[in-house]
Amino acid sequence: MCGIVGAISKNRNILPILITGLKNLEYRGYDSAGVAYLKNNKINIVKTSGKVSKLENKLNKSDESNIGIAHTRWATHGKATSVNAHPHRVNHITIVHNGIIENFKEIKEMLENNNYSFKSSTDTEVGCALLNYYYEKFKDVDKTIKAFMDKVMGSYAITMIIDSDLDNLYVLKKESPLVIGISDNTNIVASDIRAILKYTNKYYILDDFEYAKISSNEVIIKSIKGEILNKELHTLDLKDNDNSKGHYKHYMLKEIMEQKTTILKTVLPFIEEGIDSLMTLPDLTKYKEIFIVGCGTAYHAGLVAKYLFEEVTNTRCSVYLASEYRYQNNFLSKDTLTIFISQSGETADTIAALKLVKSKGYPTLGIINVENSTISYLVDTCLYTKAGSEIAVASTKAYTAQVALLSILVHSHGLRNKTISRDNTIEVIDEFKSIEKLITPLLNDKDTYLSIAKNIYKEEDIFYIGRGLDYYLSMEGALKLKEISYIHSESYAAGELKHGTISLIKKNTPVIASATNSNLNAKTISNLKEVLARGADIYLICDDNYKDDTFTIVNIPRASEFVKPILVIIPYQLIAYYTATLRGTDIDKPKNLAKSVTVE
Ligand code: AGP
Ligand code: GLU
Repeated sequence: MCGIVGAISKNRNILPILITGLKNLEYRGYDSAGVAYLKNNKINIVKTSGKVSKLENKLNKSDESNIGIAHTRWATHGKATSVNAHPHRVNHITIVHNGIIENFKEIKEMLENNNYSFKSSTDTEVGCALLNYYYEKFKDVDKTIKAFMDKVMGSYAITMIIDSDLDNLYVLKKESPLVIGISDNTNIVASDIRAILKYTNKYYILDDFEYAKISSNEVIIKSIKGEILNKELHTLDLKDNDNSKGHYKHYMLKEIMEQKTTILKTVLPFIEEGIDSLMTLPDLTKYKEIFIVGCGTAYHAGLVAKYLFEEVTNTRCSVYLASEYRYQNNFLSKDTLTIFISQSGETADTIAALKLVKSKGYPTLGIINVENSTISYLVDTCLYTKAGSEIAVASTKAYTAQVALLSILVHSHGLRNKTISRDNTIEVIDEFKSIEKLITPLLNDKDTYLSIAKNIYKEEDIFYIGRGLDYYLSMEGALKLKEISYIHSESYAAGELKHGTISLIKKNTPVIASATNSNLNAKTISNLKEVLARGADIYLICDDNYKDDTFTIVNIPRASEFVKPILVIIPYQLIAYYTATLRGTDIDKPKNLAKSVTVE
């Protein structure tokens, strides 16, 4: 997915801009990094494996430059080595790239037949060579970019320096995001405007098949046909941009604690004035079926909504992984609403699925955290979660905000289709209004989570189980643990274990469960007894004061099904967090991951 920055200035040293921008873009990947800038009339390239801080240490502190491009990588083609790190340079052309050149093999062969050779294993170097090939052929930038866009399949946001044209940066885009920030005598290109907010909040958004020529005081944006475009200059509101870690050791812990306020902040506009406010949510009664699409944690939030839509409001709801949805029979019709859930609003798989639904003309709704993100622009209607910026790769406060907003949406639907009474609504609104009181004891119970973490942190396999809603929550619990602790953890429907997985249970295998549905709890307990009999250590999150000396029990308060998921997930988040601290992993930036997954 990668983050890219480029800067050109009449009167400033752009190197600090590039490094600050890269650091803010590390949520997009952080396995290697690099920078190219003009030094003594030549392009100087510095690259390294590892994070941006390593690149910063490698840079000559006294260097200054007024034109440069930079990159923080999440490798798709070729390992995270310094050779594969961007920028890539071929003859006259130096580029950084975010995306995937899908037909790079065929292009590489064509270029090899034209005497090009390659140092790296990346698709990007092939793209760079292709740009150079066309540039040498046409000696014209417009023709070069058009030919490149015509030839390349896949996705790209590219920032390019041409040796013979050092008063300009060039950018071109298809699918991967790119903005051009405007400042006094300085223009800055980035994957995300938030990365360069220290320098400007005014920016152009480049759309697919557009490109731009950027000098220190001018931006000319063109279509693939070479026509000059009159694009809107956007301004980002700077409020709510507190990205500090406060007194917390990790962003993840800070973000878990912030749930005291983020959940209510998200739902308040829809419950403040009771039922009247709920009725401001979109009316879903005109749809026969709801589809929900998302990835990872967002998909898990969708599963909670599915449970509520189906079990409480008697409305069919199917939840799909965005990466699968795009390539399967979608059963779309005018009677279906597709809801897209995404924290970042930039996830490539989700965007692709959304574009597919839009191309068929069917209605879409977004549940998005980052305002002005790609998905928020593309959906017909966008509802924002108000979790604030989430920096830790493992999603926590965004998930509970998604679940809370979806719960309120389902609730409004239930009122409209008369499956939910007004009295019940008043109770649920009260629960949400007292959410801080309900979750604070859970957030503060460090001793319990730490003692569980001490028991499990040396294990390599952990199972999460549950039934119904608890099964869906166990999926999110297992994901939290595996992504930050690197312990293999899987979730299973409790009744399914005996159909195969139980063969993996041995002495002291941790099995973590939640049982918070009085109709299903006895069944789940029986399944836990089955694994206990085979030597497992049992940890149970429950809400009915169940007592059993053979289990370690975490009690949560009783609540309606609309609020319960939030209460169950907090112990799961904190068990994962403390387990990872004991394993000494890089909690906020776990290996191999990135906050925003902007490649397919
Ligand atoms: C969550 O902890 C993950 N890191 C990941 O699964 C994430 O939820 C997923 O990539 C979707 O991201 P989005 O919400 O920004 O679309
Ligand atoms: N495909 C390029 C590489 O592997 C860029 C990756 C990306 O943007 O995710 O280097």
